[in-house]
Parts: sequence; structure tokens; C-alpha cells
Amino acid sequence: MSEKFYVTTPIYYVNDRPHIGHAYTTVLADVLARTHRSLSDRTFFLTGTDEHGQKVQQAAEKRGVAPLDHCDETVVRFQELWQRLGITNDYFIRTTEANHKAVVSRIMQELYDRDEIYKADYTGWYCVGCERFFTEKDLVDGKCPDCGREVNAITESNYFFRMSKYQDWLIDYIQTHPDFILPSFRANETLGFLKKPLGDLCISRPKSRLAWGIELPFDKDYVCYVWFDALINYISGVGYGSDEEKFNSWWPASCHLIGKDILTTHSVYWPTMLKAMGLPMPKTIFAHGWWLSGNSKMSKSLGNVVNPMDMIDRAGVDAFRYFLLAEMSPGNDANFSEDGFIARYNSDLANDLGNLLSRVSKLTIRATGGEIPAPGELNADDEELANAVNSAVVTMSECLQSYKLDQGINAAMNAVRAGNRYLEKCAPWSLAKNGETARLHTVLHNAADALCRIAVLLAPVMPEKMAELLAVLGADKAGISGIASLEKLKSVAGLTMKEATPLFPRIVVEEENGTPEKNSGKKAVKPEKTAKAEKVEEAVNVVSIDEFFKTKLKTAKVLAAEKVEGADKLLKLQIEVGSETRQLVAGVAQFYTPQEITGKTIVIVSNLKPAKIRGIESQGMLLAAKNGSNLKLVTVDGEMPSGVDIG
Ligand code: ME8
Ligand code: MG
Repeated sequence: MSEKFYVTTPIYYVNDRPHIGHAYTTVLADVLARTHRSLSDRTFFLTGTDEHGQKVQQAAEKRGVAPLDHCDETVVRFQELWQRLGITNDYFIRTTEANHKAVVSRIMQELYDRDEIYKADYTGWYCVGCERFFTEKDLVDGKCPDCGREVNAITESNYFFRMSKYQDWLIDYIQTHPDFILPSFRANETLGFLKKPLGDLCISRPKSRLAWGIELPFDKDYVCYVWFDALINYISGVGYGSDEEKFNSWWPASCHLIGKDILTTHSVYWPTMLKAMGLPMPKTIFAHGWWLSGNSKMSKSLGNVVNPMDMIDRAGVDAFRYFLLAEMSPGNDANFSEDGFIARYNSDLANDLGNLLSRVSKLTIRATGGEIPAPGELNADDEELANAVNSAVVTMSECLQSYKLDQGINAAMNAVRAGNRYLEKCAPWSLAKNGETARLHTVLHNAADALCRIAVLLAPVMPEKMAELLAVLGADKAGISGIASLEKLKSVAGLTMKEATPLFPRIVVEEENGTPEKNSGKKAVKPEKTAKAEKVEEAVNVVSIDEFFKTKLKTAKVLAAEKVEGADKLLKLQIEVGSETRQLVAGVAQFYTPQEITGKTIVIVSNLKPAKIRGIESQGMLLAAKNGSNLKLVTVDGEMPSGVDIG
């Protein structure tokens, strides 16, 4: 049955440059929205920017431009990034837009009229250097928490929201609604905070200190406190106070996604504000952890931010989305490193998923010309694969409910690995050679079916790449895109498979001098070594058996060879390694002609990190004995199929 799903992200400070922390929350919301849409749920996804307050005012002053002009310029950074990341928000709210300001103003007036807001004298601590007002609690050893200088007590009049009167109600609400604040340890954190008496919330700032905000409708000398203004976006963005029908069709929100940095404003201020307005509570406030860089929170002031655009340029949008969601368990913090990104990309996407697709596509085209065959009788291997896929489907749907998307993705990747194991075990290439056509067809069908289901599961995470994958399977023509469409899919048999182009080309890490590394098991970063350590290694030139077997040697058959233009030493080879075809560039052109080398069964290092040689991708290295001006290929002594392990 179709349901309603309304998801929000925080509205980000318009002044800041977006980094992967902002990207994470927004991509997570996007994946939830896409999934719900694919289940035919009525879905609304809201994001936007928080544009009032001190920081914007100061930044604009510094540049000598009007605050709104400043916002108009900087908001583009968020809007462009969301477009690049394929974010499907239904609306982008800016707190400077007329509708939002009018709604905030009306709410303030109404709360003031009902005595939910009152005026009182307020003593705070002012730091002249920082031009900022602090409460007693903010101070560090009685000094300014930002610059450490002396602060002066200042008494000024301000307006207060009677938040304290909702304390008992809020404690009870949290205790009786286990889904209200998630993960549940965040609910406990909020309850801990609520053990101390809750004060009233100062919701005004005198214009003499801060002019850039929404004016209080009942006192022109004040503007609204930026958080009181910002939180209201979640209702003004869906029609509250302007389009009641629309509002009633979306509110209460299904989920406010936030980072743990803004838990209190969302789990204490916002619910009490809603209560005072007489509105129902959102179903869930989900607070995820932080992206760290070098184990500190990514933040502009620390200078350790990772620019999402750089990562997208490097690996593509979908790989970046995948990494963010796969790497972080939303309850915990996650550490970002470029090495970690590349390692996960190469192992999960280039290797596991990319290989499964290219094998299935090649084998099917070789066997039937492209048509996915109908299956015959099933055995235990087939059932094992089907179980892995079904379990991924179930896990993904459970994880969407609990927001633990990383676990859903993990289950999908386990199914991918089960697919690769299935092929190894059933060896369709041998079935083809031995003429066991019925079994070959069953295996190819089942592998394609698994891929189709996995692609649908991962489509909200990697929309473009999974659409490409479904197109390779010919499933797009059968109307397969979302999860709901899968229920209609009886069988992939009869679909026409196309040849797969690599969905996720491996990322090759080059060393400073531009030559690729030798050993794919090594880290991407070249370790620093002292001259002494290098000498010692040279002298003790022994290798353990484990070390040796890190290098995987295999037989390979040269299918075709040609000279590389402009490089008289190089040949470009197409080689068969079991079911795979690879390209390899080798410096043997002065010893073998393309005709001579074609048809030979040679020996290659099969797990070498791919490299670019003269701009041509080389996936492995062949072995040859070289003695001065003489070179002979290492081959096997007699008939041997390709792809056989050597060792
Ligand atoms: O707080 N790791 O805006 P903001 C994970 N305008 N997520 C991160 C992150 C990190 N290192 N850094 C930022 C504000 N985020 C207010 C919100 S809402 C009514 C007003 C994400 O620009 C995370 O979602 O500081 C966090 O809560 C949010 O950006 C803070 O964005
Ligand atoms: Mg912040």
C-alpha cells in the first residue's frame, strides 16, 4: 500500500562552502526519497539554506555588499552541487524568501498574542572583540569562549518563548515514542539534557547588535533569533500558513535528517515550538554522526574539508554517492581518506560489481548471441545464489526503515560476491566448452537474474550507473527500474543482453614519477624510506611464501596483437584469461611480431594494479626472460587453457 513520505535535510548556512558532510546528509535524504518514490509512495523532499544571522551579515559587510546579494551569490554553491549529485529535492527553500518570512512573522505574532512569547530583561555577557553576546553557560573560566578575553555583563530586554513549560510534556513524549529520536542513544542524550531545568528560549536579537533577520511583527527594534526562524522552514516549505491543503497533505514530516551537531535544536526547541503552535510532531528525527578528516570533525575553521567536487571529478557522481552511504554507519562517525575511497571503489565497484557484469554479459553473448536463456532444473548452487539475493532484498527494505543504509548496501554487495563465487563454482566457460548447454543456460540465466535484482536495489544509491547496468541486461526495455517494477518481473529470460562497457573503470594510483606501482596489494601512498632502510632491504633480498603468493600468476592466451603507434618497443595485446578478456601492453615489439605472438599461451601477473602506458590501459604484465638484447616469453610446456593458476 502506498504511503506518504516527507523527508528533510537541515537548511545549511548559506555562507559556508559545501563539503562532504553536507553532501552526506543530502545524498542520504535523496536515496530515501528515491526509494520511496520507487515504491510508489507519495514523496516530498525538502532541502535549502539558512540565510539570516550574524555570520552572513559579517561576511557581507566584509565584502561591502548587501546581505541578500551575498546570499544570492553563495547559495549557488549548494544548488550546483545538488544538481551535480543528482539530488531530487522537490523544493529548495531559502529563509530569505517572502513566503517563509511571512510565515515566521505570523507564527511569532500568534505566539505573542497567546502569551507564549513575553518580554523580559536579560543579563548576558558581551565580548567587545568578537561583538558577540554569550550566556553564563557559554563562558569558559568566566571569559569569552571564542577569544579568551574579558567579557562585560550587559542587561538588555529581549523576547522569550515559554519553552520551560513544555519540559515535562517533552520528556514524556520522548519516552513514549521510541521512533521519535533515532538512533535511540540520541534520545537518551536528549533525555539527559532534559534532566536539568529547561529555561525559556530567547528568540529575539536587538537590531542594534544584529540587523540581518526577520523583524518581530510586534517590535520593530528586534529581529528573530536565527534558529527560531530556520526551524520553521520544515513547515513553511510545505505550505503552512499559505496553503493549508498542501500542508495537511504533507505534515507531519516522516523524517528530519540531521547531524548530531544540531540535535538539541531539533529535539528540544523544535518539538516545543510545534507543541506551542498546536501542531503534531514529526515521526522521526534521525541524527547521524560526523565525517571526520584526520580524526577531527570536518570544518572550515580546521581547514580539513574535503571538497565533494574533487571526488566527483575523480570517480564520478554515483561512485561518490555509493562511497558516502556505504562507508558511514549513520549512528557513528566515519573518517574520510582518499586511500579509503579509492580502495573501496576499486574493490566493491570496479572489481566485484564491474567484473560480475562484464563476465555475465560476455558469457551470455558468447553462448546465445545475447538473449538471456531460460533456466532448467535448479540445484543447490542456484539456490544459494537466490538466497543471497533474497536476503539482500529483505535486508535493504529493513534497513530503509531503520535508516541503516550501509547495512542494506553491504547485503547487496554480499549478493554481488555470491554472484562471482557462483560463476567460479559453476564455471560456465567450462560448461560451454563441454557442450553442457542446458546447465550453461541455467547458470547464465540465474547470474543475470541476480544482477538485475541487485541493480534495482542499488538504483537509488547509484541511479545512473544502475540504469546503465539494467540497459546492458536489456531490462530497461522490459520496464524494470524501481523496486516495485521488480515484483512485476517474472523472469529475465528472453531479454537481450548487450555488451558491457566498464561501468567502473579502476582508479589507478600513480606514483610521483608517473610510473604505476608494481604491487596491487600495496597502499596507494608511496612510503617514505630512509636510505639505510633501503640498503637493508636490498641486502636481505628474501621473500616469504606468503609474500610470493600475493602475486597471482595465470596462463593467458593471446587473442590479438598490434603495434602501438609511436612506440617501437610496445605491443598492445588482447588476451583471454579464463572467461575474461583483458588488454595488456608489453615491451616485446622488438622481439615478437604481432603475428608471432598471437595464439601463444603466456604467463601473466593477473592481479597487478592496472596502469596506463602511453595512455593505453594495461591490465596486467606478461613474464619474459631478458638477457641483454635477447628476450623470450615465459610460456607453458604443452596444452593448457587460459586463466589457470600458476604456483
Ligand atoms: O547547522 N559530518 O547548518 P550547517 C556530517 N543552518 N555531517 C555534517 C558535517 C560533518 N562533518 N558537517 C555538516 C546548520 N554536516 C543550521 C541548520 S536546520 C533548521 C538549520 C551536515 O551548514 C549535518 O547534516 O552547519 C549537519 O547537521 C549540518 O550539515 C549542519 O549544517
Ligand atoms: Mg554547523
